[in-house]
Amino acid sequence: MSDEVHKGLDDVVVAESQLSYIDGENGQLLYRGYSIQDLAEYATFEEVLFLLFEGELPTKEQLDEFTATIREERSLPDDVIETLRSLAAVDAHPMTALRTGVSALEPHDPDQRLDPDRNVALSQGRRILAKMPTILAAYERLRLGKEPLDPHPDLNLAANFLYMLTGEEPDEIGAKSFDQALTLHADHGFNASTFTAVVIASTRANVYSAVTGGIGALSGPLHGGANQDVMEMLIEIDENGMDPIEWIEEARSNGERVPGFGHRVYKVKDPRAEILQERSRELADVGESKWYDYTTTIENYLTEDLGLTENGIAPNVDFYSGSVYYQLGIPADMYTPIFAMSRASGWIAHVLEYQEENRLIRPLSKYTGETDNEFISIEER
Ligand code: ACO
Repeated sequence: MSDEVHKGLDDVVVAESQLSYIDGENGQLLYRGYSIQDLAEYATFEEVLFLLFEGELPTKEQLDEFTATIREERSLPDDVIETLRSLAAVDAHPMTALRTGVSALEPHDPDQRLDPDRNVALSQGRRILAKMPTILAAYERLRLGKEPLDPHPDLNLAANFLYMLTGEEPDEIGAKSFDQALTLHADHGFNASTFTAVVIASTRANVYSAVTGGIGALSGPLHGGANQDVMEMLIEIDENGMDPIEWIEEARSNGERVPGFGHRVYKVKDPRAEILQERSRELADVGESKWYDYTTTIENYLTEDLGLTENGIAPNVDFYSGSVYYQLGIPADMYTPIFAMSRASGWIAHVLEYQEENRLIRPLSKYTGETDNEFISIEER
């Protein structure tokens, strides 16, 4: 047995998957063989969910049935709303509210049990995906001192989320931009949060545990947390009337990394960032343009003037998502939970796929500590 240590599991392949293909050198991302560009342009997030879970794009009838099932499951039990209310009272981060809310749903699930078979795991997954937007929107309203809104019967997942959040039906460009953002974040190979979810499910724990763990892993600034950091950077630049380049130089001289830049797999601009940049530009055309301007100034400076892309450091998905969400009126600390609301689909799809030939994930660590310590009683220490 080799005792070579693979720090960060760089380049270590631990499973086979047919869900997403990533070409980090050429900036390509496919879900089940379909380009992310086509899916973002032509499919709804609901179609993408069906594709990830079932392996193929739905027919019209299949999509209607799937969408109806999701719509039926969107409301929250009262005690989950009360849990969210108590978290709002102590000003918990929305990511904490989401993680706690998903966990609090489990006792209400009629299929709740360990060792779920595929059908049970799929039902649990659908219920969680249906309710995550409701949890987040309810939490946002509760912390603003407002009561949660019931889901809108006629809106799709993306538009309904924006409606439940703001109380207003989004316009076409807002609804489409948000739907695309959900599609773009749905799956991305064995990233840290997906791996976490799969590790949990490999013990035959249920989907609630897997998703709760995934939310925890996604919250960190090296992973999903970067989208909030990007927006906070832009807000700081704006509030202090700074030149964005001045902000970047100050951060770099303090040895800080620029949020939304760099990726373990992509060595060129993330294809998701390309699409979100386009949405950000469109929203800037009909609203405020400064957020888009700050981001492009930073990107041009880092890539063209400093040549960071030559070292494989380019904008990732988090770089432009913040300015899209901000222009839709969503506060910055909701961005990572929105990422989770979408990526939960990838977590669940990978759990379903992995469980087809489940094997407990149990790596090793190389022991580097003492081996011959003599026990000293507490009185003599
Ligand atoms: N700004 C400036 N320099 C950077 C950045 C950045 N954002 N990212 C990496 N680098 C530099 C590092 O300082 C390092 O340089 P060095 O070798 O001279 O020390 C080199 O690039 C390699 O960095 P690593 O940390 O080894 O690369 P890794 O693959 O672990 O990094 C990561 C990936 C963690 C995402 C990193 O790029 C980063 O911290 N980015 C900022 C946070 C961020 O945007 N996270 C979101 C990622 S996308 C997602 O999870 C959805």
